[in-house]
Amino acid sequence: MDASQRRGWFCMQAQLQQDLEQISREAAQLIASARTVDELRAGESRITGKEGPLGKLLGQIGKLPKEERGPFGAAVNAAKKKIVEQFAAARAALEQAGDQQAATGVQTFDSTLPGPVVPRGSVHPVTAVQWEVEEILSRLGFVVVGGPEMETEYYNFEALNIPAMHPARDMQDTFWLANNWLLRTHTSPCQVRAMERLGAPLRIIAPGRVFRYETEDASHGNTFHQLEGLMIDRNISIANLIAVMKLILSEVFHREVKVRLRPGYFPFVEPGFELDMQCNICGGVGCPTCKRSGWVEILPCGMVHPNVLRFGGIDPQAYTGFAFGMGLTRLAMMKYGIRDIRVLNSGDLRPIVRPEKRLGAAIVEKE
Ligand code: PHE
Repeated sequence: MDASQRRGWFCMQAQLQQDLEQISREAAQLIASARTVDELRAGESRITGKEGPLGKLLGQIGKLPKEERGPFGAAVNAAKKKIVEQFAAARAALEQAGDQQAATGVQTFDSTLPGPVVPRGSVHPVTAVQWEVEEILSRLGFVVVGGPEMETEYYNFEALNIPAMHPARDMQDTFWLANNWLLRTHTSPCQVRAMERLGAPLRIIAPGRVFRYETEDASHGNTFHQLEGLMIDRNISIANLIAVMKLILSEVFHREVKVRLRPGYFPFVEPGFELDMQCNICGGVGCPTCKRSGWVEILPCGMVHPNVLRFGGIDPQAYTGFAFGMGLTRLAMMKYGIRDIRVLNSGDLRPIVRPEKRLGAAIVEKE
C-alpha cells in the first residue's frame, strides 16, 4: 500500500464508520417505538434486508479495491450481527411481558369499550319528501307504482293525447335513444300504464326520475324527480282534486300553505291547472329560486282528458278522474330551504331528516 492508497483507506474507514453508526441509531429508534413482536420483525427486516441500508453497503463491495473488501465486509457484518441481536433481545422481552400479562390475567384489550362510531348517514332530501308524500297518500288509499325511465314515444306522448306533430312536444324536449325510445320527460306515462294494468276505479302514485333537455340554473336541472298521482272513479270532480292537493301541501309543510290556481295547458288534462305555492325561500317577496315572482310552480294538475282514459281502456262516460305531476325536487327545495337545485347532486352530506320508518311513522326533522 503506497501513501495515497493508505489515505483512501482511512477515508473509506471513516465514512463506513459514520454510515454504520447512523444505521444503528435507526435500528434503536425502531426498537424503541415498536409495540408488538410483528412490528419488531418488520423493523428488523427493514434494516437488515437486502433492500435495507446494510444490504446496500454490502452491495458496494464489488466497487472497492481488492484489499479493502475483506475489512469492509467484516465491519458491516459485525454491525449487522449486533443489530440482529438487539432486535432478538427486544422481541424476547416483549414476548415475556405478554406471557406475564396472560398468566396474571392482565389484558390490554378491553372488549367492553364501545367501538368506533360509524356515522349513520341520512336519506337524500328528495327521497325524504317522496316517502312523506307516499305516506300521506297511502292513507287515502293510493298505491305506489313504478314505471321505466327509458320510455316509448307511445306512453310518453301519444297515449297522453300528444300526437307526433303536436307543438306540446316542444315543451318537453328530451334525450332520444338509438332505438327511438326516449328518457321519459315526466312521470305521466305511468298513468296509461297503470290504467292498462289495473283498470278503474284506480288510485295510484308513481314517483320517479325524469329528464329534460334543459339549460341548468338555480331551479332547473336536466334530471329531476316528480311524483305522479292519478285517481279515477265515478263522479270525481275538481273539488276532489283541490282537496287532495291542499291536504298534501299542508301535511308536508305542517301548516296552511298559500296556493294559487291558474289555468295550465297540458294536452292530457281538461281543464288543466298550475297550482303554485308561495315561495318558502323568500316568503313571497321574490328570489332567484322563484324567478323573482314569489310563487313556485309545484303541482301541475287537471281532470284526466277523455282521450287518455280511452287510451287506457277506461270508458270516459262511466269514469272521470284527476291527475297531478308534483315536482318532488322543488318540493324538497321548498321544504328544506335549498336555494339551488344543483346542490342536490353536489355530494353535500349534511343530514336533514331521519325518517323513522318508510311507512306509517312521522318524519322526525330538525327545523
Ligand atoms: N306531466 C306534466 C309535466 O311534467 C305535469 C302534469 C301531470 C300535468 C299530471 C297535469 C297532470 O309537465
